[in-house]
Amino acid sequence: MISEKHTLSPSSKPLLRALRGEAVWPPPVWLMRQAGRYLPEFRAMRERADFLTRCMTPDIATELTIQPIRRYGMDGAILFSDILILPWAMGQSLEFIDGRGPVLGAIRSAADLDKLDPKRVQDATAPVRETLSRLTKQLPGATTLLGFAGSPFTVSCYMVEGGGSRDFAETRRMMQTDPALFDRLIDLLTCQTAEMLCGQIEAGAEAVMLFDSWAGILPPSAFRRYVIEPTRQIVSHIRSRYPNTPIIGFPRLAGVMVKEYAEQTGVGTLAMDTVADPAEVAKLVPNLTLQGNLDPMVLFSGGQSMIQEVDAIRNALRGRPHVFNLGHGVMQHTPPENVATLIDAVRAP
Ligand code: CP3
Repeated sequence: MISEKHTLSPSSKPLLRALRGEAVWPPPVWLMRQAGRYLPEFRAMRERADFLTRCMTPDIATELTIQPIRRYGMDGAILFSDILILPWAMGQSLEFIDGRGPVLGAIRSAADLDKLDPKRVQDATAPVRETLSRLTKQLPGATTLLGFAGSPFTVSCYMVEGGGSRDFAETRRMMQTDPALFDRLIDLLTCQTAEMLCGQIEAGAEAVMLFDSWAGILPPSAFRRYVIEPTRQIVSHIRSRYPNTPIIGFPRLAGVMVKEYAEQTGVGTLAMDTVADPAEVAKLVPNLTLQGNLDPMVLFSGGQSMIQEVDAIRNALRGRPHVFNLGHGVMQHTPPENVATLIDAVRAP
């Protein structure tokens, strides 16, 4: 059943309006990884609990989500969580190690995959929904609450490899040598991701984003099969239950494949990565809201050249529905004052 809060009503929230296809000027703005180690108040919380505990404790996750909003007043607040919470919720071991990133018990065989238990996900992710529900009460009235998940392909990369990698060779080897096993993994993730995002929407997320950080490593045939098709299934599942909840897709480094991705997945907003040229993407993808795409390194460096780059991006997309963002996450050593300057520059008349 679709409850009343999910039926479409005109919104006064600038980000929600842009995600629904309205050209809002100046463009609404939020930043990928806006909660993070570049903020002193984030580092202070880090000393109190490890990363998984921070994600899974509603008090802490609520506070960490709000920190950047309190400091800068972005138009969107993104849930403090991680794309690897889903494999962890299915029972895969997960640890975040300083200087190394995530470490998981690698999945290399049918026996490894069989050990995962999707029936655990609902209970294990309950604290995430509690965090969202608290956020709906605590965020300023004009702020849009965003939920998210990793896309099946990107999450599978970490699951098979057992962590980050330069080339995700083991994942691509499984894709080639045991496609039936890889398909099973992708299907499991597709189904669980769709359910998990519906749960986030039910708990209060007003829009959701799918992070496909490694989409760009696949050749076109595999991109269609493992990026476009699972994303299309997730979008169609969410739409059938929450037809008015905007969905943002981020197929990072997908190049010209963004055209097929935009046409075939059904996402309403395409998040552009750092290397995308906004004016060119605008031609390739004429009907969607575009999000992005300032280089995080330009934010890190700040100054007048950042302000010029902000202007170039917002002017390239003026008159179109556009959400200002970075092309990837905020870098760890970014000076916090640069973020304030960025938000002011985006909001200049
Ligand atoms: O502010 C936000 O954007 C919301 C929270 C968020 C996090 N991770 C918090 C986080 C989001 C949306 C993510 C997505 C995510 N996680 C992606 C997709 C986007 C991307 O960056 O490409 C990926 C690939 C991951 C997996 C992941 N999580 C890695 C590779 C790492 C280690 C890198 C690092 O910076 O340490 C993480 C850890 C992580 N996720 C941190 C945060 C704030 C840092 C951990 C800490 O502070 O202790």
